[in-house]
Formats: sequence, structure tokens, C-alpha cells
Amino acid sequence: MAPRISVVVLYLCLFVGISSESDEYDATIKTMEEFSGYQIHEPVLQDSSSSPLSVNTENLQKQIDELSTFSDAPAPSVTRILYSEKDVLARGYIKNLMSLSGLSIREDAVGNIFGRWVGSEPELAPVSTGSHVDAIPYSGKYDGVVGVLGAIEAINVLRRSGFKPKRSLEVIMFTSEEPTRFGISCLGSRLLAGSKELAELLKRTVDGQNISFSDAAKFAGYTKNEDLSSVFLEKGSYSAFIELHIEQGPILEEEAISIGVVTAIAAPASIKVDFEGNGGHAGAALMPQRNDAGLAAAELALAVEKHVLESGSIDTVGTVGILELHPGAINSIPSKAHLEIDTRDIDEKRRNLVIEKIHQSALSISKSRRVKLSEFKIVNQDPPALSEESIIKATESACQELNMSYKKMISRAYHDSLFMARISPMAMIFIPCYKGYSHKPEEFAAPHDIANGVRVLALTLAKLSVS
Ligand SMILES: *[C@@H]1O[C@H](CO)[C@@H](O)[C@H](O)[C@H]1NC(C)=O
Ligand SMILES: *[C@@H]1O[C@H](CO)[C@@H](O)[C@H](O)[C@H]1NC(C)=O
Ligand SMILES: [Zn+2]
Repeated sequence: MAPRISVVVLYLCLFVGISSESDEYDATIKTMEEFSGYQIHEPVLQDSSSSPLSVNTENLQKQIDELSTFSDAPAPSVTRILYSEKDVLARGYIKNLMSLSGLSIREDAVGNIFGRWVGSEPELAPVSTGSHVDAIPYSGKYDGVVGVLGAIEAINVLRRSGFKPKRSLEVIMFTSEEPTRFGISCLGSRLLAGSKELAELLKRTVDGQNISFSDAAKFAGYTKNEDLSSVFLEKGSYSAFIELHIEQGPILEEEAISIGVVTAIAAPASIKVDFEGNGGHAGAALMPQRNDAGLAAAELALAVEKHVLESGSIDTVGTVGILELHPGAINSIPSKAHLEIDTRDIDEKRRNLVIEKIHQSALSISKSRRVKLSEFKIVNQDPPALSEESIIKATESACQELNMSYKKMISRAYHDSLFMARISPMAMIFIPCYKGYSHKPEEFAAPHDIANGVRVLALTLAKLSVS
């Protein structure tokens, strides 16, 4: 396919500082001057047969495949748990690629890895991008990985094009986006965003094998008795953060759209509820005398669905993923019931209203069924995040200039970006993935779609770097 001439010229101007005598290019050059804030002099013409911003798709795919071999499950599954031997090998692999791309590397006390390309004005807040490479048991090789390897390739793309960043550009590999080992999701980015509660909690957190967080981290070469507050970043440390990720949903593939520009990230709240009744013999205790904790739980589960639907928005969701009855015998009336509820929305007020209604229902069910509501605990209630308008705009114009179809969408799953939004303006770029599959071995993104994502990321980083 022939590259669109105006697009090609646009890049040549941006990246190699090229101008042209032809009138039809003047508008483009003018736009580029406005955009970059400096004049484009030197008229040099270049062979336009090789498109600038070209991604080394084959090499990138090779890296994705190689990284997937650092796994505790046989291919095509990937299992890569925080601070395991395979995680340490994967970290070495990433750091090596970062140094091959000329990035200067820093690691913090929990192993968030930063690779920086120093810009011409290093005192300005840098622009950052990145994602995670940990993988839950028996998952796939694209979740997170595309946003780390793709970010390093985006840096390579910009270097090959001759681009010189004004603000520094930084690639971040976040520690433990997945909660597998210590039950805490987005561990690295939560700490970066300054979570004192988490820094405290990690002092007494152990994994399923009773290995403490700090022992596990030491195994991987981190937290040498360091105070975890050393991980916190000040608000304003970055002028922008943008994460490239597979959609993990079916929309882009179904609609044959190349890029999703994420405008908001839904955030979960989780609630633990316990009911207690008297239990008793399933034959001998008569119905009017019962106070069945199991039925209270069942009634609350249906109330969760009702309150979520009452919100009237398709973006409000709620799930009772855990419902346990005690003692769990066929001939015994449940004396205790335990529920865990997950509810999410992109609108915090609306989600919190659902939580309040669930609480009211729990209280009234406890009364009407004469069971004790022994616990109603909101375990976490993360605020959703809105993407920054200026980053959305930069991403949209990158798509337009690259002639790529895109649509604005929300992220129903949450990502490290949700927490980066607390300290930096944020946005995300989604690419299509096969049937929306994720967290299983069938997870797949086509090399062409990944390359599209990398090009949009590269051009967006370039724009943000000079603004
Ligand atoms: C832009 O993309 C569309 C759809 O992929 C294609 O039909 C069209 O020819 C492209 N335009 C240019 C100028 O490349
Ligand atoms: C876990 O380890 C701690 C400290 O080594 C020990 O005191 C505790 O008994 C262990 N707990 C279990 C359940 O093994
Ligand atoms: Zn992910």
C-alpha cells in the first residue's frame, strides 16, 4: 500500500527536520512548526519509500515469544508470578532490551523498572509509558507485555526516525499488576502513587506459603531493608502517562477498529459480608423458627443485581463471586454465610450509591430474617479515573495522521493506569485481541495490530514530548 504523502512529509518534518520546496507541503510544515514549537529550516528530501515510524514487527513478535518462555507453565500457557525465578529472568530480559535501546535504567525498592531517554530539556517533567509483565497462572503472553515490549519498540521507532525528545521519555515496567502472590493488585503502581496504607500493609503481608513480602522481594534482589516510602512519586513527576494494552474485550475486533482510545477506567469496590443465624437440623427445625443465614445471603445476592440494574447505566456492574455456607452439610441449616461482592463503575458517585443500597439491604434482610449481620466490610473502594483530555486529543490526532480507525471507549478492567492517574495526567491505548480473550492461553493479538498500537504510541509520545 502506498504511503500517504502528506503523512510521510509530516513525519519527515517532525523527525528529521526536513522541509520541501513544494507548496503543497507548506501547510503541513506550518502545522508541524506550531505543533513542535520550533521552526523547520533545512530543506532536505529523503527517500519516502520506507515509511517513517516503521515498527520492526518481526523482532517485536520474537521478543513477545521469547519473554513467554520465562514461564512456570508449559506453552502456550504463561505463568509468571511476582519475584519467582521466572519473574527475575523476565526482568533481566526487559532491562537488557532497555539498555539496547539506550535507556538509562533505574529500579526502585519493589522492582518497578524505569528506562529513561533523556530529552533536550531534562528539567521538564518526563512523559512516561508502560505496563506489566507478570502473568496469572495459565494465562497468555500479551496481557501487559504488549505495553512494555511495545513501549521499548516505540522508543526504537522514534530513534530510527531521528526524533529528538524535548521532555524525557520513560518506559516503566510495573511490579505485580496481578494480585496472584500477595492478593494485592497493581502493587507497584499503587506504591508509586503514594499509598502509605499499602506500604504499611506490606510489612505484614505473607503469601500462601507464609513467605513474607520482604523475603520474597529480597529473593529477587529488592527491598534491602529500604523504607517502601522511597517508592512514592510526587504528583507532577510526569507530564503524562500513557499505557498500551490489549483490549481484553471483543469490541475492537468485532467492529474492525484498529485503536481504542480509553476515556475512563472503571474501578472496583469489594465488600465482604457475613451473616450469622442459629443453624439447626434440616429436618427437625420448623420453618417459622428458622433464621437461615444462607437464605439471607441468597436474598442479598439478588439485591446486588437489583441495585446494579437500578443505576440504569450499562457501565454499572456487580458480581457476587464468593458465597460460602457453614457448616456446608445437606442436612444442616446454614448457621453462617459469607459473601464477597465486586461492584464497578466509571462514575464513582453512582457506584458508591450502589454500595450504600447494598448496605441498606443487608441491614433490612438481617432484620427480616432475624440473622446477625456480623460483618459488612468495604475492603477497597478505588476511585475510577478519567483520562486527560489533552492526551486523548494527542492520541486521536496520532490515529488520524496514521490513517488508523479508532474509537473512544472505556476500560472495564483496571490497569496500572488507574493508579498512575493519581499522580499524572493519564490515558490508554487499546488494540484488538482475538475474541476479547484474556487471562487464558488462547489470548492473542495479531502482529499487525500490535504494530499499529506501537506506531500510535510512538507518535503520541513524540507529540507529548514536545508539548
Ligand atoms: C486510509 O485507510 C483506509 C481504510 O483502511 C483506506 O481505504 C484508505 O485508502 C487509506 N487512505 C490513505 C490515503 O492511505
Ligand atoms: C508463618 O511464619 C511466621 C514467622 O516465620 C511464624 O511465626 C508463623 O507461625 C507462620 N505461620 C504459619 C501458618 O505457618
Ligand atoms: Zn494487564
